[in-house]
Amino acid sequence: MTVKQKAYPVQKLAGLYWAYFGPQPAPLIPKYDVWARTDGWHWLRALPQLDCNWLQAMENSVDTAHLHILHQELVTDGFKVESTTRGTIDNLVKYEMEEFAHGIIKRRHFRDGKIEEHPLLFPTVLRQANRTQIRVPIDDTHTWIVYVHFVPESAEPRANKDEVPVTYRKPFKNPLGVRHPFTKFRMDEVDAQDFMAWETQGPILDRTRERLAASDRGVVMYREMLKREIEKVQRGLEPMNVFRDPNQPIIDTHMDRSLEVGKAGSVRYHMPPVQR
Ligand SMILES: [Fe+2]
Repeated sequence: MTVKQKAYPVQKLAGLYWAYFGPQPAPLIPKYDVWARTDGWHWLRALPQLDCNWLQAMENSVDTAHLHILHQELVTDGFKVESTTRGTIDNLVKYEMEEFAHGIIKRRHFRDGKIEEHPLLFPTVLRQANRTQIRVPIDDTHTWIVYVHFVPESAEPRANKDEVPVTYRKPFKNPLGVRHPFTKFRMDEVDAQDFMAWETQGPILDRTRERLAASDRGVVMYREMLKREIEKVQRGLEPMNVFRDPNQPIIDTHMDRSLEVGKAGSVRYHMPPVQR
């Protein structure tokens, strides 16, 4: 008897092995600046398993307002919180969501004139400062998240650029492997707060019971984009961010601009201590 094990094509980039589970021929890994630039080095941060659907994390990437409410104790940018209902939202003059060639640009205008941009790279990546957060669906109710950081050599030289250090985040909840209300999340880190907000929506959020408001316009834009791109695939077309040309130039997600105009203190090139 012959047994055949199914195999998938794998590519290596930025310290990760990338497998493609779709129909052949496999597309190339998008050459986003954070992943493909060679004038620096990479490091990875692996997060604990997220026990809910990946779309909950992605919709959060275009929910600008949540930063000012959910993370008001940890991300203040010097703003004095006077009401926990408004958090730091009054530190924001306005925010914009704009579709661009590779996804959605989320742009925040702060009172001190600084502007922050965090593009959502369609469909499952958020670029924030010098890192990308990649949300990998494991199945419909579990997600694995890894951060890929790029550090320009001009900012911090490193002898061996090919070595990609990995840090593993300590668990965000206790006990592991179970969901709300049978587990307790710690709230002392931004990522732990996000995990709490994503998982407590349930394994798959029931969107028939939600009430979207004006501040959810990024979520609506992302859902419309998803629907449009799914329909393209159904018509036999290629969706956004599928690349097949090996000579495709590096895609500038404006990481450098983001680092220049980002809020002071929001960019950290060096690796934090290993957390276990
Ligand atoms: Fe968040």
